[in-house]
Amino acid sequence: MKKKIFILFFSLLALLGCEKSEPPPKPPFNVSLTLPQLMDWVLDPAADGIWDAVAWISTTKGEKVIAPHTEAQWDALRNSAATLMEASNLLMLEGRAKDNGPWMTYSRRLSNASEKTLNAIANKDTQAIFDAGSEIDSACEACHIQYAKFDQKAPQK
Ligand code: HEC
Repeated sequence: MKKKIFILFFSLLALLGCEKSEPPPKPPFNVSLTLPQLMDWVLDPAADGIWDAVAWISTTKGEKVIAPHTEAQWDALRNSAATLMEASNLLMLEGRAKDNGPWMTYSRRLSNASEKTLNAIANKDTQAIFDAGSEIDSACEACHIQYAKFDQKAPQK
């Protein structure tokens, strides 16, 4: 019985914690990348690994399909999607997350899109990989519009 009350107490605490809009707690880690480094060194290359792997390009000689051919290329593509999926978890870490609301929603959206990509890769379904890649793109965009405010900084080259 005591145990149940204990659990109830902590569940209530957890619930209360979710509703308060206090600043996020300090990071549980000692050494970590800054947010721009995490973006530039982890998320961006992983996303590029997906976006560059599958494409339909119109040329004068007709349509050119870009897709992985060798097992090594498929593995590299899978690794990019896996990295991106885990990187969305890194965005949600205490101390890195900017809030407990939309930030988490965008990060989960990225995670879901990455999972879809992973499944599509497992099926070697290039159309589904391409579609999931668009979902990844819009997840990045949605968060940037709200939090990155690129337009208010120096113009990007
Ligand atoms: C949950 C929010 C969020 C998601 C999702 C997100 N980003 Fe970001 N990103 C940011 C924020 C905030 C910044 C601005 C960081 C700063 O300047 O301090 C940023 C900045 C960047 C930058 C510029 C870094 C620099 O050097 O200033 C790149 C590149 C980038 N993101 C790529 C991506 C890609 C690619 C994705 C999707 C695969 C993505 N981001 C998803 C929040 C997000």
